[in-house]
Amino acid sequence: MAKTTSFSCTACGASFSKWSGRCDACGEWNCIAEEAPLSTGPASKSLGAKRGTPITLSDLSSEEAPPPRTVSGLGELDRVLGGGLVPASAILVGGDPGIGKSTLLLQAAARFAQAGLKTIYVSGEEASAQVRMRAGRLGLAEAPVKLAAATSLRDILTTLEAEAPDLVIIDSIQTVWADHVDSAPGSVSQVRAAAHELTSFAKRKGASVVLVGHVTKEGQIAGPRVVEHMVDTVLYFEGERGHQFRILRSVKNRFGPADEIGVFEMTGGGLAEVANPSELFLSGRGDPAPGSVVFAGIEGTRPVLVEMQALVAPTPHSQPRRAVVGWDGGRLAMILAVLEARCGIPFAGLDVYLNVAGGIKISEPAADLAVAAALLSAREDTSLPAETVIFGEISLSGALRPVGQMENRLKEARKLGFTSAILPSGGKPGGSGGLALTRMGDLTAFVGEVFGAG
Ligand code: TYD
Ligand code: MG
Repeated sequence: MAKTTSFSCTACGASFSKWSGRCDACGEWNCIAEEAPLSTGPASKSLGAKRGTPITLSDLSSEEAPPPRTVSGLGELDRVLGGGLVPASAILVGGDPGIGKSTLLLQAAARFAQAGLKTIYVSGEEASAQVRMRAGRLGLAEAPVKLAAATSLRDILTTLEAEAPDLVIIDSIQTVWADHVDSAPGSVSQVRAAAHELTSFAKRKGASVVLVGHVTKEGQIAGPRVVEHMVDTVLYFEGERGHQFRILRSVKNRFGPADEIGVFEMTGGGLAEVANPSELFLSGRGDPAPGSVVFAGIEGTRPVLVEMQALVAPTPHSQPRRAVVGWDGGRLAMILAVLEARCGIPFAGLDVYLNVAGGIKISEPAADLAVAAALLSAREDTSLPAETVIFGEISLSGALRPVGQMENRLKEARKLGFTSAILPSGGKPGGSGGLALTRMGDLTAFVGEVFGAG
């Protein structure tokens, strides 16, 4: 039989029959890599007449005890995991190189080891001495974590079978090399094979396995996306290089809510928990300035207040610039269009910059109204009333739509000393939280009320 070569995208995992410079599925460039041919064994033939073993079926109502969890004591980490670490589970922690994954996981390993879990930390990137030095710097030298510097999947699995640990950390999955797969370490087939073997080890032996994965744009190393569907939990560790905040975000969790965030601060002694992120994100805020608005958001199960900053200035170019940090560029374009079409406020000929302070990324549509307010405030060069928070979704018609968890947003604002809020008139906030509420049905009313123009 002819050997069929296949190609797959290292960013999204889509497969193709021929190479191309750009992935048709995700649009990424230079990310198509050749893959070892798939086995042409039974999967490619028909199942035939041989019978399988019947599977025992059960009812939906069968009683199942909740999985026993181990907490690390790092509250921010435990919450993102859904309330602690679950045995027989596989967790992928993705993030840019240098963002702090190894530091976070070494700290987590130490905590879980101190909580009684037999913990093994396998580093394929650093020598044991380097990991020990880091542990020393973090003040974790005494933690009962077993270290190994290894990259051979076969050796790692043999060791794990013999040691029977409760928690294994593989840093990183891209460095693990499976000798039964005929391609270079870091390629899609290698990463997929290693992740498959390690997750099945977790299921078989009841261990928790954490896989670290680098996300790279170049596509030389397989992105951890191909692993995402194999694991129970996918966490992303993100943050802006220049900021000291780091956010651990769950994007998939079979054992807890997704979209939960944990906030950490980078310090000389490692990552420190930030129990009240709103306080941190608002800490650098000065007196009310044009273009600055406080948005009362919800991240996962928690309210978080952040400052939205806008700058609007006449453009020297023929094409005005629109630049966004921490929010969606498409959504900004939509709000500019709604302001223009429904309220008659043009932004043509003006450069628009939008920044979410503190390096956090906001994806909630509930931030629409805060963004619109920041843009208008910058454009009109007027500050909004101090101690006011804003939230609400804007529809294409210019109507303001109510958003979820309004009461929690208001309560958090109250806790941080805000005295008033601007929000959509629909929906029931379920209480004002002690704030003076200004409620509006559409964007035109908002513009008239807040900026005294129509
Ligand atoms: P590292 O954990 O090695 O990042 P990754 O594993 O994601 O590539 O961290 C990168 C660098 O940042 C490393 O030199 C240590 C430093 N660092 C601190 O000094 N303090 C911190 O709190 C963190 C998270 C990192
Ligand atoms: Mg690392």
